[in-house]
Amino acid sequence: MLHDIGICKVHAPDIGLYGGYPYIMHGILGREILEQEGYPQHALVCERHIGVGLTEADIIGQGLPLPLRDMTPQNTSEEIVCFADLFYSKKPDKLDRMKSVESVRRKLAVFGEKNLQIFDSWLVRFGRVFSFDGIQE
Ligand SMILES: [Fe+2]
Repeated sequence: MLHDIGICKVHAPDIGLYGGYPYIMHGILGREILEQEGYPQHALVCERHIGVGLTEADIIGQGLPLPLRDMTPQNTSEEIVCFADLFYSKKPDKLDRMKSVESVRRKLAVFGEKNLQIFDSWLVRFGRVFSFDGIQE
């Protein structure tokens, strides 16, 4: 939950959020919040969890309203947060449902083959602990 703390400042009425910033900014807004609270390492997880992470080329290519810097996960902990987050929605009627691997892949494919390759590599590394009906014991 902490990685998404920045959503409290975004405007996304479909999920009950009425802040002043675009949704895509919730990562950097979360970073700001956690840095101000004295958690600089956790702050980086916020910034680096969007999709499979955002490169400078992604930010330019998609015209995103974000500062131009690398926002990709830089260690295993950050990668696991990204990977796990891809399987869940914030939509009120879908909060308790885990997305299928194919659903996640379809969504990532919109943003390019590179994203699929990253996700597939995480699936090999981290996917075995998921049953996709929940986390296996
Ligand atoms: Fe998020």
